[in-house]
Amino acid sequence: MPDSAEGRLEIADDRAALARRVADWLATTVTAGGRHVRIALAGGSTPKPVYQLLASDDYRARIDWPRLEIFFGDERFVPHDHPDSNFRMARETLLDHVPLAPGQVHPMPTEGALEACARDYEATLKRSYGRNALEPDAPLFDVVLLGVGTDGHTASLLPGQPVLAETARWVAGVPHGAPQPRLTLTYPAIASSRHVAFLAAGAEKAAPVAAARTGDRRLPAARVTSQGDIIWFLDRAAAGQT
Ligand code: 6PG
Repeated sequence: MPDSAEGRLEIADDRAALARRVADWLATTVTAGGRHVRIALAGGSTPKPVYQLLASDDYRARIDWPRLEIFFGDERFVPHDHPDSNFRMARETLLDHVPLAPGQVHPMPTEGALEACARDYEATLKRSYGRNALEPDAPLFDVVLLGVGTDGHTASLLPGQPVLAETARWVAGVPHGAPQPRLTLTYPAIASSRHVAFLAAGAEKAAPVAAARTGDRRLPAARVTSQGDIIWFLDRAAAGQT
């Protein structure tokens, strides 16, 4: 039975403890099983200390990097060296500091037409997956990391956007994203996962997290499912405990 957005709670005292909690979980999770691992990284600011920890001496040695294949949950439609680029953020905090070969990292393309880039990235996912259709017993991702916006968006599944109704495609363009157009994994692609890990910190996230976890479907984050499990990694503020 797919896990709904209610999922499981992991609450850390503060942002630093939250980063350690997520980094420890990721190091353990990606190492288990000894298989090829596909991970979709989250953008935004919350994951940055997690990525910095994973690149640190304490954690870098705990992960068998050659088995990983890195994807992105979404991207702002800007050049990869643009300050708003999620790929640039991940490169600076993590990818440039760990032993990954170029073929192991798949940034979302952001040159040319938005929809063509979405189709291109979907083809990249299908090549890695080895199938053209998502199979219930073969999750596309081992881990999907997601943030949550104060409006309840996640990845670039933004309130009111047609992408929320997408049930077939794995990647879609969001032409009316803010502040730029965006590319995003769709709900079916995110659902094809062993683990979805939401990361949220700060008091401003307490309300959208609580609403999403109680299934308020006006919030895009509430409609995320996983073939595996959903875990909410929160600091006490985002858990509404301060
Ligand atoms: C992005 C993210 C977006 C982010 C949330 C939370 O490209 O910005 O995909 O979904 O995760 O907006 O952002 P913060 O972590 O900065 O609060």
